[in-house]
Amino acid sequence: MKLFGLIGYPLGHSFSKKYFDKKFNDENLDDCIFELFAIKDINEFHKLTEENTNLKGLAVTIPYKQSILPFINYVSVAATEIGAVNCIKFTDCNTTGHNTDVVGFEKSLIPLLQPHHTKALVLGTGGSSKAVQYVLKLLKIDFLLVSRDKTNTQDCIAYNDIDQKIMAEYSIIINCTPIGMTPNENAMPAIPYELLSANHLLYDLIYTPEKTLFLKKGELKYCTIKNGFEMLIIQAEENWKIWNA
Ligand SMILES: NC(=O)c1ccc[n+]([C@@H]2O[C@H](COP(=O)([O-])OP(=O)(O)OC[C@H]3O[C@@H](n4cnc5c(N)ncnc54)[C@H](OP(=O)(O)O)[C@@H]3O)[C@@H](O)[C@H]2O)c1
Repeated sequence: MKLFGLIGYPLGHSFSKKYFDKKFNDENLDDCIFELFAIKDINEFHKLTEENTNLKGLAVTIPYKQSILPFINYVSVAATEIGAVNCIKFTDCNTTGHNTDVVGFEKSLIPLLQPHHTKALVLGTGGSSKAVQYVLKLLKIDFLLVSRDKTNTQDCIAYNDIDQKIMAEYSIIINCTPIGMTPNENAMPAIPYELLSANHLLYDLIYTPEKTLFLKKGELKYCTIKNGFEMLIIQAEENWKIWNA
C-alpha cells in the first residue's frame, strides 16, 4: 500500500482526507490510502516516518507549516523564501518540502486579473499571506500589507490607515486572515467597504462559508469576487503531482 496523509494538530474535519479518499475511489487507486496524523509535537515526526515506511507523501497543516522545515532534507526555493512547507514528498532515503499554496493562489488569481489590477492590499501577515506575497512578487504586482500589529517585523500599515487614496490605488484586496470563517460568519476585516467600486477584485482565501461577509460586501459594490476553494483544489492536485513525480 502507498501511504499518503496529513499532519497537523488538531485535525478535526479534514478537506484533504475527504478529497483523497474520493479521488482514490473514483480513480480505482486501490493501492493508495490517506490517513490523518494528528501529532501533538513536531518532534514526533521522525517516529511517524520510522513507523510508516510506506509513506509517499504528506500534506502539512497548522501549526507545523514552519516548524517542519528543519526535519526535511531538501526544501524548494519557493518554500525556503516563504519559510513554510505544506507538502512533503518521500523517496527512498530523502524528504523534499514544497509550498503548493503558491501554485494554488497563482493559478486561481491569474484569470481574474485585468490591466488596472496593478496594486494589492494584503490583509494579514501569517503563513498564507507569505505565500500570497511570493506570488504577487512573481506577477510584479505591488502590494501593501495590512496588520493589526504595528510592531510587526514586516513593513505594514494598520487597518485604520486605509483611506480613499489607498482604496482608489489598490484595486486588489486579498483576505489572508481567518476573519469571517465559519462559525464566525458575521465578522469581516475592518476595511472601508463604502469605498469599493467595480474596479476592485476581492479575493478571500477562506472557503467556508462559500461567500464570506467580506465577499458579500464587495458583491454589493459590483466588485469581482473570489473565494479560496479553487486555490484549495489546485493545491491538493499539485501535491498529488509532486508525490507521484
Ligand atoms: N484556500 C486555501 O487553499 C487556503 C490556504 C491557506 C490558508 N487558507 C485560509 O487563510 C486564512 C489564514 O490562514 P493562515 O494559515 O495564513 O493563518 P495564520 O498563519 O494564523 O495567519 C493569519 C493572519 O491573520 C491575521 N489575523 C488573525 N486573527 C485575526 C483577527 N482576529 N483579526 C484580524 N486579523 C487577524 C494575523 O495577521 P496580523 O497579526 O498581521 O493582523 C495572522 O497572522 C485561514 O482562514 C485559512 O483557512 C486558505
